[in-house]
Amino acid sequence: MTVHCRRIVECHQLRTANSILVTGATGILGARIVKELLDKTTCKIYCLVRAASEHEGMARIRAAIGIYGEECLDERMRGRVTAIPGDTQLPGLGIAPSTSRMLSVDRVIHSAASVNLIALYHALRKPNVVATENVAKFSAQLQAPIIHVSTHGIFGTKAFERDAIFKETDLDIGQEFRFFYYAKSKFDAERIVRGHADAGLPTIIVRPGDIFGDSQTGAYPLRTRRDADVFYDIFKTAIDLGVAPFNDDYFDLTPVDYVAQAIVALMLDPECYGKTFHLTNPDRKKYYQVINYLVEYGYRIRFVPFSEYLGLVKKGAFTNNGKKYTSKFISLTEYFSSLFDGKSLCGTFDTTYTRSVLSRKGIQCPQANFELIKTYLDYAVADGFIPPPSSQVLLSYEARTTPNIRIPALSRLRRI
Ligand SMILES: NC(=O)c1ccc[n+]([C@@H]2O[C@H](COP(=O)([O-])OP(=O)(O)OC[C@H]3O[C@@H](n4cnc5c(N)ncnc54)[C@H](OP(=O)(O)O)[C@@H]3O)[C@@H](O)[C@H]2O)c1
Repeated sequence: MTVHCRRIVECHQLRTANSILVTGATGILGARIVKELLDKTTCKIYCLVRAASEHEGMARIRAAIGIYGEECLDERMRGRVTAIPGDTQLPGLGIAPSTSRMLSVDRVIHSAASVNLIALYHALRKPNVVATENVAKFSAQLQAPIIHVSTHGIFGTKAFERDAIFKETDLDIGQEFRFFYYAKSKFDAERIVRGHADAGLPTIIVRPGDIFGDSQTGAYPLRTRRDADVFYDIFKTAIDLGVAPFNDDYFDLTPVDYVAQAIVALMLDPECYGKTFHLTNPDRKKYYQVINYLVEYGYRIRFVPFSEYLGLVKKGAFTNNGKKYTSKFISLTEYFSSLFDGKSLCGTFDTTYTRSVLSRKGIQCPQANFELIKTYLDYAVADGFIPPPSSQVLLSYEARTTPNIRIPALSRLRRI
């Protein structure tokens, strides 16, 4: 049963937070949110984590936050971070009844989800849809306002329409999801949260873009988190092959620290409840511009027409030691181009309202420029995820005779 909280949670209570439940604290974003809470607030942080014991849960959370900086971490976590073993897919979040009775939180940040871009709906319904219902019910019972992490993916097929604009106030604008079930599951999860908001639960929804590393350090769990490298694989594949498809897609690069900073700041502003925020990078770059930054960094990469690239992929022309070269980027490129008929991502995910709110709080998304890419590449090289430009070894592929595509000069791209 949804408890109607709007009258119960007074406005002034939303200005501070004493204790927060965070789901997804072992994930890319959740761990950075916990770090932000440690850095910027004095609240107690309860992390719902899949683990057999509190001890194991703490070790998992500690390892995840450690990616973003080790400085005095144990000391800062002590007495402030508590692991709560549980599972968002289970009623009552699978929290042991004895713990549940004692638990008192005044905010819930729901970041947990299965971020699998190619899974089928039936595999995503429980971790993303049922789980969100469970978390919202739990929040309502505790009368704890919820900050729900959604995604820009819910723009769906409209993201491929040049004139389409998706505003913070929009949800259903007639978009379809075809077989992009992850986005569909997040769309359904948002509807659930909105239903609880209509019933009186104070709610903030944030829709991040594609989350990349920390803008200051580049830190990102490239090796420690399964599948976390999916976006960085876009870089790696271009570096491995020395060839990239030329297309007009917008490419979102949203630093994880920006998203975490925004979530914590919005959470402490009573005016933000009942609203939705777009946490994509307002500095929109095209895919080829980002690849050009890799070239500027020192890698040898040439463009071929998108259709030709797809053709090469389909006939297995990229080989590594005689074996067909595969990568997450290549699989996703094939998958999404078939889903969306090879159309470009060209719609506008509007951030005007979000920027106006965040700029008053002194928060601005770092520009998606060469400096940011350099920070990410420096980190990925130091981590051993990609070779430095001096050690780049190009894999062989057929049809090297294709003339290179003429692209705008780098100096001009820098100003775009
Ligand atoms: N990454 C992106 O680019 C991106 C972009 C837009 C929106 N988002 C959204 O941002 C949120 C965080 O994403 P992320 O990139 O941080 O994902 P992630 O690294 O895959 O982390 C997912 C987190 O959810 C937890 N989780 C999953 N199922 C759970 C369950 N049944 N019970 C408890 N915990 C569960 C995971 O726990 P385990 O460690 O036990 O697996 C992990 O802590 C998600 O809601 C996602 O949809 C992400």
